[in-house]
Amino acid sequence: MHEASSSLHHCKFEVPEIVFGRGLIHKVGSCARRLGGRKVLLVSDEGLLRAGWVDVALDSLRGAGLDPVYYGDVTPNPKDTEVEEGAREYLRQGTDVIVGLGGGSAMDAAKGIAVLVSNQGRIRDYKGTDTIQRPLPPMVMCPTTCGTGSDVSQFAVITDTLNMCKTVIGSRTLAPDISLTDPDTLSTLPQEFVCTSGLDALSHAIEAFFSLAATSLTDVHAIRSVRLLASSLVTGVREQRPEDLEQLSRASLHAGMALSNALLGMAHALAHPLGGRYDLNHGSLNAVLLPEVIRYDLPAVWEKLPELSWGLGCRTNGDPAASARAIEDTVCQLLHDTGAPTSLRSLGVVEVDLPELATKALNDVCLVTCPRQATQADLLGVLEKTF
Ligand SMILES: [Fe+2]
Repeated sequence: MHEASSSLHHCKFEVPEIVFGRGLIHKVGSCARRLGGRKVLLVSDEGLLRAGWVDVALDSLRGAGLDPVYYGDVTPNPKDTEVEEGAREYLRQGTDVIVGLGGGSAMDAAKGIAVLVSNQGRIRDYKGTDTIQRPLPPMVMCPTTCGTGSDVSQFAVITDTLNMCKTVIGSRTLAPDISLTDPDTLSTLPQEFVCTSGLDALSHAIEAFFSLAATSLTDVHAIRSVRLLASSLVTGVREQRPEDLEQLSRASLHAGMALSNALLGMAHALAHPLGGRYDLNHGSLNAVLLPEVIRYDLPAVWEKLPELSWGLGCRTNGDPAASARAIEDTVCQLLHDTGAPTSLRSLGVVEVDLPELATKALNDVCLVTCPRQATQADLLGVLEKTF
C-alpha cells in the first residue's frame, strides 16, 4: 500500500496514558490515586448506576483509599446546566480529581466540569479551539460504549441550552491523563446503543481518515478501527459476545486516537447542530449522514480510497473507482445489517429547519478539516438527500 497523501512533515500526536483490558474497571481507584487525588468526583449517569458500574467504580475508589463523591445528573447530549451544577458540586465538596464513567455524554460532562472549576465562566465561553487558559484537574475517563472517543480525545461537546446548539471545545488540556477501557462494561449496554455507538466509531474512523489533518500516525489507527468494525460490528450488535465487544471497544479506542489528532468532517459538522436542536442520539445521526458524506468527499480523497476499501475488507486491486463503489456498498451494507436508522425524517427532524441547520454547520469546527471546502448549499444538499 503506497503512502498516499499522508505526511509527517508537520504533525503532533497527543494521547493519554491508555489502560485497556477486561476486568480493569476495578483498577479505576488505583488510576485516580496515581494522579495524586484524595477526594474524587465520579461523573456518570442513571443508566450506569442501574447497571451497577457506578457502584463498582465507587468500591474501587474507596478500596484505593480515596473519598469519592458521585455526580449523576447527566443526560444524553449533556447540557451546560448539568455541567454547571457538577462544577458547583466539585467546588462544594472540595474534590481534586475527576473520573468520567459512561458514554460520550458522561465523559464530556466530566470534561466540561473540569473546564469550569479551573477556568470559571460559562461553557459557551470556551467554544472553538485553544480557548482554555488554565490547567484542568487530573482526569480519568472510562468509556462504557463503543464509539465516543472522548476517553482519548482533545474535545468535549456540550449542549448550549440557551441557543439550542452544541458547543464544541477543542484543547490539548481536554485529553485526560488516563483512558481506562474495560470491554466488560459493554455487556450491559442496550443493543441499540452498541449499534449507534459502533457506527459513531465508524464515522470517526472514516472522517479522520479523509480529514485534511490526517497523517500516517492517524491513518494507521483509522484503518485499524475500520478493520475491527468491519469484522465485528454486525455480530457485536446482534449477539453481544464478549469477544466481539472487546473488538468493538478496541475499534472505538483506535478511532478515538485518530479523530483526536486528525479531527473530523462534514458528518459531525452536521450532527452537532442536529443533536443540539432535537436532542437526538449522536451515533444515529452520523449513521444516517455517513453514506452521503462519503459520496460528497470522494472526489477529494480519490488516492486514499484503495487503502480504505482494503480496511473494510474489499478486494479492489488498488483501483480508486472500484474502491469507491466497494466503500459505498460496504458501508451501506453495514448500516443495513446493524438495523441503523436510514433518514433524518425517521429520527424526527423537520424539513423546514434544514437551511438553518446547514448555516449552523458552516460554523462547526469539524468542517475545517473536511476534505472539500463545503458551502452552505453543499451542507443543505447533504441534509436534503438524507432527509
Ligand atoms: Fe462522534
